[in-house]
Amino acid sequence: MCGIVGVVSSKEINEKLFNGLSNLEYRGYDSVGMCFINNKNFKIKKGVGKLEEVHKKVNFLRLQGNVGIGHCRWSTHGGVTKKNAHPHVDCKNKISVVHNGIIENYSELKDELIRQGHKFYSQTDTEVIAHLIEDNLKDSRIEDAVKLALNKIEGSYALGILFADAPEKLFAARNESPLIIGVGGNENFIASDVPSILSYTNKIIYLEDKEIAVLTKDKVKIFDLNGVNKNKKIHAINWSAEAAQKSGYKHFMLKEIYEQPRAIADTLNERIRNSDVVFEKEFNLKNDFLRKISRIVVVACGTSWHAALVGKFMLEELAKIPTEVEYASEFRYRHPLLDNNTLFIAISQSGETADTIAALKEAKKYGVKTLSICNVMGSSITRISDGVIYTRAGPEIGVASTKAFTTQLAVLYLLTILLAKLRKTLNEKQVKVMIEGIRKIPLQLQSVLDEDYEILKCADLYYHKLNSIYLGRGVNFPIALEGALKLKEVSYIHAEGYPAAEMKHGPIALIDKNMPVVVIAPHDIYTYKKVLGNIEEVKARGGIIIAIATDNDDNIPKKSKHTIFIPKTLYTLSSILAVVPLQLLAYHIADKLGYDVDKPRNLSKTVTVE
Ligand code: F6R
Repeated sequence: MCGIVGVVSSKEINEKLFNGLSNLEYRGYDSVGMCFINNKNFKIKKGVGKLEEVHKKVNFLRLQGNVGIGHCRWSTHGGVTKKNAHPHVDCKNKISVVHNGIIENYSELKDELIRQGHKFYSQTDTEVIAHLIEDNLKDSRIEDAVKLALNKIEGSYALGILFADAPEKLFAARNESPLIIGVGGNENFIASDVPSILSYTNKIIYLEDKEIAVLTKDKVKIFDLNGVNKNKKIHAINWSAEAAQKSGYKHFMLKEIYEQPRAIADTLNERIRNSDVVFEKEFNLKNDFLRKISRIVVVACGTSWHAALVGKFMLEELAKIPTEVEYASEFRYRHPLLDNNTLFIAISQSGETADTIAALKEAKKYGVKTLSICNVMGSSITRISDGVIYTRAGPEIGVASTKAFTTQLAVLYLLTILLAKLRKTLNEKQVKVMIEGIRKIPLQLQSVLDEDYEILKCADLYYHKLNSIYLGRGVNFPIALEGALKLKEVSYIHAEGYPAAEMKHGPIALIDKNMPVVVIAPHDIYTYKKVLGNIEEVKARGGIIIAIATDNDDNIPKKSKHTIFIPKTLYTLSSILAVVPLQLLAYHIADKLGYDVDKPRNLSKTVTVE
């Protein structure tokens, strides 16, 4: 939650810091602040609101200098006030700190520091860090003071720290919150994510937990909390800076929805060879192990959890492996039953979700093999797990996840084929059909996007409704959950997803002529006829049916108010096509309501706190 950025350069940095912060705003946007060093003094500007709003009042670009830090906040400790906005400083205004994470023992540390005479002005946990370093500076050099202070802190942090008396240096540190270092020419950066500084450099160092970095314009020194120096690899990132821009779309969310044909094509690229699925070397799991797995446990949060539910359906139906799906936040506090024949999978777009990381760490304690499915190269879960399959969605900036979700489904589908082949649960002919099916998906997605005008019509008619229900069955039940989540997140309309038949056990009471009911009803051999029955039940009670149906289905349009068609595909793959109209519906409704679609209230793109 919160974004942090910092630059130390031989040149003026104000635009770079401002742009970096603007790229990070998806992480938090209730308040914003920046600090520069001028003549061994801090110049700080901050305020409540989004970057542009505060900028209009304080003009961040008037700040000048060669070293600075910036922060956009998603509040955890302390209300949304100017005082609580970052950066935070010590008593003498000589140490300035921006922070993402939660200091769990801040209250004990604060009491102790107050006893020693420190004066606090905010309710944040972050302010403690500035005072704690100040306290340690009494008897130590700057680097040691930072190290000693961080050794006393419990909890998560990504930090940018400036010292007015060391104006050529930018300090950074991380523990369980994301932070990367960008290595430029005569300038270096810190940031919460890679895309925010991609216009300036693609050379990235990943800071590990409990590491501290000291950046000057031409050097990066890294050591751990015991003072042991670290030699770190510089990674060249191949995402382009343009990929992290809106490219003419009104919002990132819309751009990312429209990018899905490309994102899926990239995710499949070179992974299908004839009728084999081949993952890159980071997959790292041996065929012998994959043949003997007796169970798969998948953990994730939010939209990634919905992808896991679709994955369960694929893995059980086609690879015949019992699969359990858990919320990472629940799994981490249980004593799970895991053995050597369990494959543990963590799914995360960002790779930095605190609960997913914690669940993965918990699983590792049991010695099980772990695999992550992730979109962000080098992120925390990819470094902790034994193997990785990357989705290749490219940077996802819109807070509501779209292309990351469909690429997760594509990866789960490929993994299912790989396992089904190895375990001989599908014959060559069936595998060939599956492969032909996924190969068609990018083009088919394009044709779904071409129906956007129909979806826009629905948005026009129903954007003022206060509630809605999403129904689906089998592989499309998680898609009903995902459609409802998308609508809630960006339009703040109450929406619930149910397995279509379960509706009779309660939710049907909600249906009247004011209730839009989105029914995902592709043609299949499993439950199609049953879903038709469910549509009749809604219709009989006056509900407004918006159906997602397979091309050329003539039954559904007769029973529904609106029908959005998707191309014919395999049942398991219908989930990838069916979710796209639901993403568009949520987007258009939120846009019609005039909401800031890319920055929905109360949300943050990456939930790096528990
Ligand atoms: C919903 C959404 C969230 C994330 C969840 C997990 O649109 O974006 O529900 O899916 O916070 O995030 P990752 O996948 O980064 O672990």
